Amino acid sequence: MVNDRQPTPQDESLRVATTDDIEVSTYLEIAKEMAGQQPSATEAAVSGAEREAIIVLDFGSQYNLLIARRVRESHVYCELMPHDTPWEKIAPLNPRGFILSGGPSSVYEAGAPLAPSYVYESGLPVLGICYGMQAITKQLGGQVTPGTKREYGHAVLHISRSDTPLFEGLPESTTVWMSHGDKIAEMPQGFSALAYTENSPYAVIGNGKGIYGFQFHPEVVHTPEGRTMLHNFVYHVCGCKGNWTMGNFVNMSMARIKEQVGDGRVISALSGGVDSSVVATLIHRAIGDQLTCIFVNNGLLRREEVERTLKVFKNNMGMNIIYINASDRFLDRLKGVTDPEQKRKIIGEEFIRVFEEEANKIGKVDFLAQGTLYPDVIESVSSVSTASAKIKSHHNVGGLPARMTLKLLEPLRFLFKDEVRLVGTQLGLTEDIVWRQPFPGPGLAIRCIGEVTREKLEILRGADFVLMNEIKKAKLYRQLWQTFCVLTEARSVGVMGDFRTYGYAVAVRAVNSEDAMTADWARLPYDLLARISNRIVNEVPGVNRVVYDITSKPPSTIEWE
Ligand code: XMP
Repeated sequence: MVNDRQPTPQDESLRVATTDDIEVSTYLEIAKEMAGQQPSATEAAVSGAEREAIIVLDFGSQYNLLIARRVRESHVYCELMPHDTPWEKIAPLNPRGFILSGGPSSVYEAGAPLAPSYVYESGLPVLGICYGMQAITKQLGGQVTPGTKREYGHAVLHISRSDTPLFEGLPESTTVWMSHGDKIAEMPQGFSALAYTENSPYAVIGNGKGIYGFQFHPEVVHTPEGRTMLHNFVYHVCGCKGNWTMGNFVNMSMARIKEQVGDGRVISALSGGVDSSVVATLIHRAIGDQLTCIFVNNGLLRREEVERTLKVFKNNMGMNIIYINASDRFLDRLKGVTDPEQKRKIIGEEFIRVFEEEANKIGKVDFLAQGTLYPDVIESVSSVSTASAKIKSHHNVGGLPARMTLKLLEPLRFLFKDEVRLVGTQLGLTEDIVWRQPFPGPGLAIRCIGEVTREKLEILRGADFVLMNEIKKAKLYRQLWQTFCVLTEARSVGVMGDFRTYGYAVAVRAVNSEDAMTADWARLPYDLLARISNRIVNEVPGVNRVVYDITSKPPSTIEWE
């Protein structure tokens, strides 16, 4: 029957699109029974007279975080805030300009979100993108109407006013990415069209007093000159100086950690992943031995991972690290468990127990440091549930004891992942750590199909070690999102020398991805695949067959479980 072969839906999936660090942070956060805190403007990373920021008011477009990223790539601090954020929350950041984002609403519908009046009264420059441009049009007295057809995809932008500061360094025409249904029928008074496309006579508008609108999305890669346009807006229109550098961030952040912690004590979970490594290094730089890191070996790590992590952080950097080999505890609890979601749940619970026991032994601790990043805490009107929300809703882990009233220390909560990597580099962490591929919190347990046993883990470690070695030798490690082996439950017949073998089939997975939400299988060179296959079969006892996974996500997922 065909239906029997259809994939079965998994309602209660604990699968999360995130890395081990976020998972670990979230375990701890749930354990503290704390709701995810929102970043507060007053904590912003550049302080005092130097402070400058661009505020993106969020009307719900899926691209909004990208706008903030692009602005920050120009070395100007940028935060995404809900479109109705009160001025009091924004003022401490010392805004130099506003960007009104795109969004799914139509401005002429009742109750459509609009920009607060301070945006126009402040006299600060404003750039409206797509819906943001329509909001400006409506609020300043122009007219927006439903377009006869939705304009979606590439369009060629022709610049009619090349003296506009936004267009500095741009060619006369350039490709832009459109995605809109509504269009401007009449510009507000004082505005003129500065550029057009075939279907949009008002593709860029401006009033000569610092208020601009783009009908297209400058933040996406399909608008190749978009970065330059945003750069021009923040420098040539808003007059920003560009003090958002990771060097500045490290200095400011260390000063703030010192101030916040005083002579208190901090604990942190170290996993060897990028975020927890950068957090630990940053805090250690700031307060030295007042930081204790707890590194839990759950028995599901890769070969040499423990040794390498301890070597870097304990031996080389001299950090105070408590290393706990809790392999037996985890593996005992995983005995007989085959369901992937059950595996995840057990590993989450056990992690909290171990962490809690060790933290208790330290004595009085004041802060819990976590590698939470900006995309995980951001409150957005468009907010799809964040990784932590997803984990939280599924993991029913026990709380840390009430007497452990820990305050959270989250120095990276304003940073994007690529900024965290830059901070890591700034702090002198090696490429190996800074560019580490994501590794799931449940580790090899979800790459060992079926029951997790010590014997199977050893086989998987052996195969994975060969794969990593070959991928690194081929200089592909950094450009691939993830590369790993899966130990399948399939056993098959083989022949080695004069002997018939009956061994495991290992699946090799290598994917390209931007954010793990979608992924494409990597077209690895045949000769590389041949080397990987040969070496795994020859060097890893128990394996006599290697297959390459050629499915993308969707419809598959990156991990097999
Ligand atoms: P999938 O398999 O859902 O994976 O395509 C997307 C990304 O998430 C990672 N992943 C996890 N990370 N705990 C984690 O910390 C998990 O339970 C988990 N499951 C998947 C996966 O490695 C990929 O990067």
